[in-house]
Amino acid sequence: MNAPDFSFPLPDFDELVHPDRVSRQLYLDPAVFELEMRQIFGRAWLYLAHESQIPKEGDFVTAWMGRQPVIVIRHKDGKVHVLHNRCAHRGVLLVTEERGNTGNTLRCGYHGWTFRTNGELLLAPMRDAYTGRYDMNDHETFGLARVPRVDSYRGFIFASLAPASDPMPGLPEFLGEGRRCIDLLVDRAPDGEVDVSGGVHKYVVRGNWKAQIENLNDNYHPPFSHACTTDDNQRQFRRRYGDDSGVHMDNREQGSKFDSVDTVGLDWGSSYCGPLPFNHDKRGGPLFDAHCAELRKHHSPEKVEEIMTDFFHNLIVYPSVVMQLASSHVRTIRPIAHDRTEIRVYPIRLKGAPEEINRQLVRYLNVTHSAGSLIQSDDVEMFRRVQSGLASEAQEWVWFNRHMADDGPRRGGGTSEVVMRNQYSAGYLRYMQGEVQ
Ligand code: FES
Ligand SMILES: [Fe+2]
Repeated sequence: MNAPDFSFPLPDFDELVHPDRVSRQLYLDPAVFELEMRQIFGRAWLYLAHESQIPKEGDFVTAWMGRQPVIVIRHKDGKVHVLHNRCAHRGVLLVTEERGNTGNTLRCGYHGWTFRTNGELLLAPMRDAYTGRYDMNDHETFGLARVPRVDSYRGFIFASLAPASDPMPGLPEFLGEGRRCIDLLVDRAPDGEVDVSGGVHKYVVRGNWKAQIENLNDNYHPPFSHACTTDDNQRQFRRRYGDDSGVHMDNREQGSKFDSVDTVGLDWGSSYCGPLPFNHDKRGGPLFDAHCAELRKHHSPEKVEEIMTDFFHNLIVYPSVVMQLASSHVRTIRPIAHDRTEIRVYPIRLKGAPEEINRQLVRYLNVTHSAGSLIQSDDVEMFRRVQSGLASEAQEWVWFNRHMADDGPRRGGGTSEVVMRNQYSAGYLRYMQGEVQ
């Protein structure tokens, strides 16, 4: 099926996106937003759910791919399907709950069309009215449309709306070096699996989705945006179990401790940054030791050392998700409109870890990333202010030029903006200027 034609003239993205800056129109223009939904969210591998949320037949969660509603559901053969959440009859949203179990069928609330959990139409009430004229077994027409590409990595389920003919690579290649970050996150669970089926923090931000994704490997902002979280010595509260002190928020005029944090751009606009300047030498204590002891039941001491050594802080899988190691969470970014974004934060439980460790991780996440947290509330306020400030027509550009002269093409210090530049060059432009398949 062909993508709809747009009646407005397509913007010239070479004019809007420069190597060191982008136009304010990218945050303000609803037409640009429509294109992003088609070109980026209509093609990229998007994170939708975790296997632990749907362990049994009929278990489902609902999600969005861009603005399109989908159902992630487990069929009786164990296979996970991603179905468009749209009745094949007259288009009604089929499932309205966020999660649950539907048994072995999905039934539409409007006229009772009933589908199998793999999307096939099982029955249309009073079917005789269609007999002879329509083939109700024609899945393309009367079944629930399936998202063409679905895959998972270490339990994290991604899907892509790109058809098979699209040169978009498979999930492992798309994730690239990001897989190493996901491996570390999951390997911290002594059982080798994580559980994302607990609660969720949700909030809608009055800002553009890119503001959140540009913030997550931005180590220039913490000493300023989060100044209220530090003591007189610019030391933040103790974040993790086992640390004897918190992040040092160093805000000198020249240089910064945050420059010691590595930031690395990956293909397709993804990236990760190294661990924050925690006080590593002093990590320990009974809980930390108990965690290591559980891991040693499954791994050599050398491997345990490797697993418990922070390699990254935030992994961004552009454009839909962030995974954070220290506070053990997965964060989804759902664009609603050019000036509205929903953010969801799901705690990740480490299976096989002492219960108190998982309690501490959730407690830490509540302090840093709930709607009323000490950290993320500062950030979302800045996303709102970005959207408000860009209403000014006095200046056109949003700058990402820090360390432009001395960074490698994809690697820089923590306060560099190389990762945002990479989001635009290796992600945004590639999608926006690419051919729709
Ligand atoms: S719209 Fe679903 S059965 Fe009619
Ligand atoms: Fe922040």
